[in-house]
Formats: sequence, C-alpha cells, structure tokens
Amino acid sequence: MNRREAIGLIGGGAALSAMAGPVGAVHRAAGWQAAAGGDDGGYDPQQNMYVLPPLPYAYEALEPHIDAQTMRLHHDIHHKGYVDGLNKAVEQLSAFRAAEPGAAGTPGAPSIKAVERELAFHGSGHFLHTIFWQNMAPAGSGGEPDVNLGQALERSFGGMEGFWKQFSEAAKAVEGGGWGLLVYEPVANRLMTMQAEKHQNLTAWGVTPLLVIDVWEHAYYLKYQNKRADYVAAFRNIINWTDVSDRARMAMGVV
Ligand SMILES: [Fe+2]
Repeated sequence: MNRREAIGLIGGGAALSAMAGPVGAVHRAAGWQAAAGGDDGGYDPQQNMYVLPPLPYAYEALEPHIDAQTMRLHHDIHHKGYVDGLNKAVEQLSAFRAAEPGAAGTPGAPSIKAVERELAFHGSGHFLHTIFWQNMAPAGSGGEPDVNLGQALERSFGGMEGFWKQFSEAAKAVEGGGWGLLVYEPVANRLMTMQAEKHQNLTAWGVTPLLVIDVWEHAYYLKYQNKRADYVAAFRNIINWTDVSDRARMAMGVV
C-alpha cells in the first residue's frame, strides 16, 4: 500500500487499524515517518536496506526550471551518496553493538559519536531528497493546494502569498548549504517554515516536513550559478501541490 492508497482508504472510511503493512498506524507524524522510509520508495524491506527511489518523472521533465543535467547529477550521484552513507552507518552501528565491551575505545574501532554523526547527515539527506523529488512536478501539472492545506496556509500565514514570501525568503537566506521547509507542527495544529543549515544540525522534534526545497549548491549551480534567488523563484512553477496536500492530510490526520 502506498501513501496515496492509504489516504484513499482513510477517505473511504476504513478504520485506521486496517492500515497494516509498511505504513503501519497512519496518524499524524508517525504515519508519515513510516511512509517516508518505505512507501515513498526509499527503503527496501526485502533487502532491509535503504535504496535510491526512482525519480517520479523524466530527468528533463522539470525544464526549463531545473535542467536535466542537474537532475541527473543531483539524483544519481548526490542522493545515491546519502543512501550509501546511511546504509554504511547502519552497518557500523550493528558492528558497534556486536563488539566486545570496551572495544569502542580501542584504536580503529568505530566511534559511536562519529557514526551517529554520519547517520544524521546521510539519513537527513536521504529522507529530505526523497520528499523533494515528489514535491515537484512538471510545470502546469502540480495542481493546487486542497481544501485542508488551503485552510492551513490561511490560518498559519494569511494565505498563499504570505506563505510564499516567508518560505522563499527563508530558503534564500539559508547560510551555506541546506534546505527551506514547510512543516506541520502538531502541538498548535499549524504550519511553520524552517531553515535547515547543514541538514543534520537543526530540527524541531515533532514537526513533519510537507514541502522542502534543496538549496545546497549542487541543486542549482549548473544552471543558476550563484543566483539562488532565481532558482527559488523558478521552484514555485514546479511545486506538486497535490503531493503537498496529501502529506498535509496524512500529517494532520484529516480524512
Ligand atoms: Fe541535494
């Protein structure tokens, strides 16, 4: 069952307890966390390994806003690197658990601190890129926010224009490499924007990413060079609002 089928089930009135399988209990953030690792294609339960999910469109599908060469490098090289690094960190943690007591302190043994850092860096890179590909669609095919997301944008930012001003300015102002994010915050049931400088460093526990824009230079430098603002502006043309709306309903538990 993929994420969209899961939403369809909820919409059809099926009990949440019927949502067995890789998605597990679909409710607020927990449902999305499971979906992010499995149903979006970023994890293969047969191999018990993280895998590079295929792009949901052709390399050239987002042109002229994002060019095919950037997409090819970004997906096939950069994202693949995060997947490989994450699997390696998971493997090292397994070895760490199996090591004799005290072995971690011996020369050549993996340091738990170093491996945890790798886990956070590559894990964040893999999960965010997996969302990022699906957050985009060929220009003109991404739809509009659904009723639920539209109302959430209204009460959180005063509407679409308020959201875009805050989101795009935050993305442009990320220091160094990182991400701009639209997230769901479940305590007050509202949306927030966040900056992630070096994606492993900052987060707000409990939020669920809904829309993410990659502003590491590898995401735009071939076509836009140092003009990050132009890249962010172009991104607006290829947002897949259908996907973002799906994510918002899953996160918010809206049927
Ligand atoms: Fe990236």
